[in-house]
Amino acid sequence: MTRKRVLSGMRPTGRLHMGHLFGALDNWRKLQETYDCFFFVADWHALTTDYADPSKVKEFTVEVVLDWLAAGLDPQKATFFVQSRLPEHAELHLLFSMFTPLAWLERVPTYKEQREQITDKDLSTYGFLGYPLLQAADILIYKAHYVPVGVDQVPHVELTREVARRFNFLYRQILVEPEALLTEFPKIPGTDGRKMSKSYENAIFLSDTPEAVTAKIKPMITDPARKRRSDPGNPEVCPVYDLHKVFTPQSERESVIVPGCTSAGIGCLDCKQILLKHALPVLGPVSERRAKLAQDPDAVRTVLEDGTARAQKVARETLDAVKSAMQI
Ligand code: TRP
Ligand code: SF4
Repeated sequence: MTRKRVLSGMRPTGRLHMGHLFGALDNWRKLQETYDCFFFVADWHALTTDYADPSKVKEFTVEVVLDWLAAGLDPQKATFFVQSRLPEHAELHLLFSMFTPLAWLERVPTYKEQREQITDKDLSTYGFLGYPLLQAADILIYKAHYVPVGVDQVPHVELTREVARRFNFLYRQILVEPEALLTEFPKIPGTDGRKMSKSYENAIFLSDTPEAVTAKIKPMITDPARKRRSDPGNPEVCPVYDLHKVFTPQSERESVIVPGCTSAGIGCLDCKQILLKHALPVLGPVSERRAKLAQDPDAVRTVLEDGTARAQKVARETLDAVKSAMQI
């Protein structure tokens, strides 16, 4: 029996942090047990916004793959590659561009939103408008059944389905309509209480050593109403407590943290110590694995070479069928 295929990608925009770990990566790690998983670094997609300064893309590509492997993604189980090593994606994207109505791309919500939100870059480019069509090529070239993504990416999977339908209708029944597997992202606050993000400089990275994690947690923002040790606090408004929800067993939260906080029985520093007691055994091995892998320059290279070869076999097959259906 052949396993159903899962495909997902990430743009190489920097080192990955705990938000990625408890959102996408934990999910991918589970999926690799059951499905034929393809995971890739979307470096061309990074260029759609970073074309004027592409100097970091290559470095970040390696960082992302290191983070994946450190997080427990396994090259024995899944296939890893870098988009730009597979020119087949670009050829399929070009062929798709021939029959994809412009209006389909113009009405994608991320397109409109990002054009308005990102003001420090000129995104009135052909590549940026075509972003979701390139993504459609990424997905359809592997005949993926499932695409694990966050809710913001669902319109891109919808467009992918429309492109597949149009191709199958115009030429021949070749492409598979994929389904989005909605990834739940638990609320992971950064050290300042805002959403964890590299650009806010509030992130705990997978590469952070236990010492670095400790140094970031200790000064973390807590319930702002709890100014003195004797003030009772409210865990529900405290970002430290959001991290407890990820790391600390429910029983200990209910018996120690919540009563201790609301009665001022424990101080915030005690509370953070308990958090570290549970977080470091999870995060420590990840950063350790990552540091080991980073010392071996061949590690990532070999994983990507293997993955590229596996991916290319599938990609070539689909592309050949598509070209023959389009009589080109
Ligand atoms: N657009 C995705 C993101 O920003 C990255 C991506 C590119 C992707 N191609 C893909 C995701 C194909 C899933 C499938 O997160
Ligand atoms: Fe937050 Fe813990 Fe302090 Fe309560 S005791 S405010 S949960 S850090």
